[in-house]
Amino acid sequence: MKSHSIEFVPSFFQFIFIPLSSDNEIQFLQWALPRMGYSWPGFRKPRGQVLKRIRSRMHELSLSGGYEEYKAYLEEHPAEWNHLDRLCNVTISKFFRDRKLWNFLRDELLPGQLQGSHAGTFNIWSAGCCNGEEPYSIAIIIEQLSKEIPAGLDISILATDRDPKVLKRARKGRFPAGALKECTDSERILYFQNSETTDGDYTIKEHLTRHIEFEQRDLTKSLPDRVFDLVFCRNLVFTYFTKERQQEFLIRLRPKLKPGCHLIIGSNEDLPVINWLEKASNTHPVFRVRSDREHDTNYL
Ligand SMILES: C[S@@+](CC[C@H](N)C(=O)[O-])C[C@H]1O[C@@H](n2cnc3c(N)ncnc32)[C@H](O)[C@@H]1O
Repeated sequence: MKSHSIEFVPSFFQFIFIPLSSDNEIQFLQWALPRMGYSWPGFRKPRGQVLKRIRSRMHELSLSGGYEEYKAYLEEHPAEWNHLDRLCNVTISKFFRDRKLWNFLRDELLPGQLQGSHAGTFNIWSAGCCNGEEPYSIAIIIEQLSKEIPAGLDISILATDRDPKVLKRARKGRFPAGALKECTDSERILYFQNSETTDGDYTIKEHLTRHIEFEQRDLTKSLPDRVFDLVFCRNLVFTYFTKERQQEFLIRLRPKLKPGCHLIIGSNEDLPVINWLEKASNTHPVFRVRSDREHDTNYL
């Protein structure tokens, strides 16, 4: 008999059993993901979505022999790995994801950072920006902090993702109501166009787009040609990548971060042990690049 992992969804007096994935499917992911540089635990939660795409791909290829046949197909057709990689792309996001972090950034971290910056450009990077929820959230808090921005300081937000489909949506700046769940009523009114004219969707107001530049970039291949004051790398590298790939990413990231700059990761993520970053908060996943020099010869 086929065994399934089961999720319990409480309704009034009963539990509904939802099969999420069979053992075969999990074994397939545990075999395939590390071969692409991904770690299985990161995929545990979104596995249903990923497996649905894989099943549909096997159907498209007329592979009726299940995962063993797909494994053999991958071994015979190495180009299929690129296809599978795209099927494993998780694109879930929302405005002000982990709201308490954003309040900390707005109320505690950023005012001092902005006031302490000299004329020039304050460079922010949203790595893995998805449909734009994260960079637009950044633009909103920057607008809320406009009084703290010294004269002559420009703000630039670079938002990158490898997936052209999410970038197209991000440039449009149009979102379903669900993406704004964490926004306050006044934020909805102040920063979005009236939803009545767009079938219930919300469109980000034009003036918030002026600081943001969207760019397609796969961060396993190259990093932006800039040095940053603030980097958001959340729910991507430190959730989905293997430990080796995380370390390799951090080595390449380091020259892109100014001393004293901050790196923000996801609330459920950890960094590998490194000596050039230190915790900037006890409660939020915010790290500061150490400004002393002793770590210069030994990155990780
Ligand atoms: C789960 S979403 C996270 C979005 C946002 N950072 C957040 O925390 O809400 C991960 C995003 O990373 C992008 N991504 C995945 N692998 C990538 C890579 N190698 N280079 C750049 N972007 C990548 C995906 O396309 C997706 O939009």
